[in-house]
Amino acid sequence: MNIHRFEEVTSTNDKAREMVAEGTPGGTVVVAKSQTAGRGRSGRSWFSPNDDNLYLSFVHRTSLDPRSCAGMTIDVGVVIAELLTRKGFDVELKWPNDVLLNGLKVAGILCELVTDGAQPVVIVGIGLNVNGSEFPAELSSIATSLLNATHEPHDIEPIEEDLIRDLAQALNRYDARTTPDVEGYRRHFRMTGRRVILTGGESAEVEGISNGGGLIVKTSEGSRTLRSGEVKFVGIDP
Ligand code: BTN
Repeated sequence: MNIHRFEEVTSTNDKAREMVAEGTPGGTVVVAKSQTAGRGRSGRSWFSPNDDNLYLSFVHRTSLDPRSCAGMTIDVGVVIAELLTRKGFDVELKWPNDVLLNGLKVAGILCELVTDGAQPVVIVGIGLNVNGSEFPAELSSIATSLLNATHEPHDIEPIEEDLIRDLAQALNRYDARTTPDVEGYRRHFRMTGRRVILTGGESAEVEGISNGGGLIVKTSEGSRTLRSGEVKFVGIDP
């Protein structure tokens, strides 16, 4: 297994990107104990102390058209949700790909597409809060860790091992099917019927997940399917 371990990096996704530029093969994994500039979606940062959490990036070289890669992120969410469910955690997926435990975020996914010559390369970045117990004030009401949920520490190695194996399988399966694992996603999706605020401030009710992995919402204007973006739970998310 092609795993590169670091004590500290700016971001495992950045390190993976550098390695892609140097020609690293598909299946390369970058793992760091801490990140000084961990990145989240929408320009946010990812809290990455040296606290026995998992910060990992997986390099996936694909022959798919870059436009067909968007749904991969749905499958990565399913991989994490299934893995944690198998380990006894009652997790749910918040669209598009936050993993929640007790309603709080325990894992996040940042998929970035880069090209290497003509070939698209997807860098799948995953942050999983395993044994971190303290969060900065702005995160304390929205984030959690496996430790905080169970009040006991968890072995990070078996989680990492299973995650890498399952990711490789899921991404290869995605390449073969080119459609997201919507059935798997729906098994962990509990947002149906909930009120959310869309990017832009519009209020909506969640109706479900489309066959393409989009979020179906009903607003005062009628139903529509969101393909990207994020939504906030009314009265919960900041
Ligand atoms: C999000 O929910 O906003 C996505 C968070 C993704 C965090 C992970 S940690 C490992 C990888 N390296 C990064 O800089 N970000 C991702």
